[in-house]
Amino acid sequence: MKKILLVFGTRPEAIKMAPLVKEFQKYPETFDTKVCVTGQHRQMLDQVLDLFEITPDYDLNIMKQGQDLYDVTARVLTGMRDVLRDAKPDVVLVHGDTTTSTAAALASFYQQIPVGHVEAGLRTQNIYSPWPEEMNRQITGRIAEYDFAPTPLSRENLLKENVSADKIRVTGNTVIDALYMVVDKIKNSILLEGTIISELKKSGYDISRLRNGKKLVLITGHRRENFGEGFISMCNAIKTLTEQYPEVDFVYPMHLNPNVRKPIHEVFGEDLSNLGNMFFIEPLEYLSFVYLMEKSNIVLTDSGGIQEEAPGLGKPVLVMRDTTERPEALEAGTVKLVGTDYDKIVKEVSALIDNREYYDSMSKAVNPYGDGKACERIVKTLL
Ligand code: UD1
Ligand code: UDP
Repeated sequence: MKKILLVFGTRPEAIKMAPLVKEFQKYPETFDTKVCVTGQHRQMLDQVLDLFEITPDYDLNIMKQGQDLYDVTARVLTGMRDVLRDAKPDVVLVHGDTTTSTAAALASFYQQIPVGHVEAGLRTQNIYSPWPEEMNRQITGRIAEYDFAPTPLSRENLLKENVSADKIRVTGNTVIDALYMVVDKIKNSILLEGTIISELKKSGYDISRLRNGKKLVLITGHRRENFGEGFISMCNAIKTLTEQYPEVDFVYPMHLNPNVRKPIHEVFGEDLSNLGNMFFIEPLEYLSFVYLMEKSNIVLTDSGGIQEEAPGLGKPVLVMRDTTERPEALEAGTVKLVGTDYDKIVKEVSALIDNREYYDSMSKAVNPYGDGKACERIVKTLL
């Protein structure tokens, strides 16, 4: 019996690790599967745990309001010391590029426990963009014994860093496994669709507004390197767009980070409840978010995970960042980098709304990130 410990702490890690937890649980004779959450995110993590019905074996519960990188690193590192001593895993699996994943990998290394890195090999080679994620994933990659690379390009990145080929397995990204699970769930239950629609309404967006061909721009933003001026410029651009296109709806489920909310209030005012075609709502549960993404026409985001999901649903994505570690969809033509520049955001969103031909050229469904079988491949490798 092999002891596997999966460690994660933020919303995107939870979404991408949940199907992997489920896959390991299919082999109770072979794997003793344990889950440790750090609670780097609290509410946004719990939303995902509830949806996938995962009860963690360990919960470090580290989140503090307005935490900084030192808080998260120190609390995860010391918290993991005791968890690892208790669980004594044969392998620790961490995900991607968060501070939870890097600190948990380091904690495992200090007890000489092999680490498997899920979503390994993504690179921008600019350590300040995204920050601190680019350095986080490079450090985690350096510690890892097993590299589960989502695409051939991420494998190439690792080979260039002299990672030996036998440590790397190209698996696809587990986010596509999660996305397919959720899309299937929605498709197979009319009852569920009704629940989602009423959940959305409670959150402040009535999807029936989209009858008669009304367009929807879905927006998210949270990157640390965009805090301050970058966010102000993004919000100003969004405000201009809402005025320029009163017939289009703009929906922004806001991240809970106070640094994200401050500039929104600065530009749109204290009361965000009656802004006509602009809807600021609380973070959505993953099912509702995927449903809304499916209904949207354009996605404007700085998120990593959404860059992977939206192209699979055939949605053009404008990425409010200067670099991306996910160039595959860029090459396929469904994703475009617009940075945080006011003029560029206004110009690119307008072009997608106004120019049908341009819109069609960016809205073909492509799936360079996976086929929904990434978790199966990861588990088979460890089998
Ligand atoms: C973190 C990750 C980032 C990832 C993002 C996904 C790091 C350094 N950053 O950034 O890589 O892309 O998550 O969303 O690992 N908060 C809550 N409740 C929640 C979640 C957050 O109140 O459920 C608030 C808290 O005030 C918290 C703050 O947001 O202190 C920041 O959270 P933190 O995880 O440090 O940073 P994120 O910007 O969420
Ligand atoms: N997401 C969600 N609810 C929301 C916004 C996003 O469930 O209100 C999902 C989204 O589908 C994707 C993930 O959260 O799977 C992305 O998380 P985030 O943008 O916070 O982090 P990143 O991917 O940039 O690390």
